Amino acid sequence: MTTWNPASYDSRHGFVHQLAGGVVELLDAHRGERILDAGAGTGHLAAQIAAKGAAVVGIDASEEMVAAARRTYPAVQFEVADLCTYRGDAPFDAVFSNATLHWILDADSPAQTFAAVLKPGGRLVAEFGGRGNVADLTSALRTAVGEATGTLVPEFWYFPSVAEYASVLERHGLIVDFALLFPRPTPLQGGHEGLAAWYREFCGDLLSPVPEDRQAAVLERAAELAAKRFVDGRWVADYVRLRLRAIRG
Ligand code: BEZ
Repeated sequence: MTTWNPASYDSRHGFVHQLAGGVVELLDAHRGERILDAGAGTGHLAAQIAAKGAAVVGIDASEEMVAAARRTYPAVQFEVADLCTYRGDAPFDAVFSNATLHWILDADSPAQTFAAVLKPGGRLVAEFGGRGNVADLTSALRTAVGEATGTLVPEFWYFPSVAEYASVLERHGLIVDFALLFPRPTPLQGGHEGLAAWYREFCGDLLSPVPEDRQAAVLERAAELAAKRFVDGRWVADYVRLRLRAIRG
């Protein structure tokens, strides 16, 4: 289970919310709407949406993230909740979600939540890792961990194609009317050590079978394997985003 550090998440990896302008625009929140932010993290996007006059409820599974969001934005409602089972405070005009759905391998459970909490005609607007997301970086780490532990590292993330995810949503009565899968190469902060910091922030579960005192060597080996992503003195992560809107029938 990933443990989040809200301080480093914001200071080193602020691109997670800073690069989300497109999906916030697609949401197109209006005054008076009730909107669920599913996976609100440190709360920056929920606050942006609330600033448009919408009543926002931000949920996140991480107590640390919710505590940080409440501290920064006391006027916005944030709750610790599991997106797979959340049914509170419905119905909503819209569900918004950024950089969250790839963490849930059982894609049907969040889709059931969307269907349960949205009004008929309500919209889901989401962006998350799509097919091929961070494949160079994660396969380098998977190989390095495999070499060090002699075990096959399991799949931790869900990065679907447009067709795959549209059919998940359709199973639960949500019809996709807009979808885009696009590469979003993302420079990481720091020089050579920026990749290790990214691995530690986002790939802790993948790294965890490696004993603490061998992790630095494994991260160095992963950097060697991912070398083609080191361009002009910085790492460029091979992010691929799936952005979509779906309407509940
Ligand atoms: C992401 O696309 O946000 C992501 C996915 C898996 C690991 C790290 C980041």
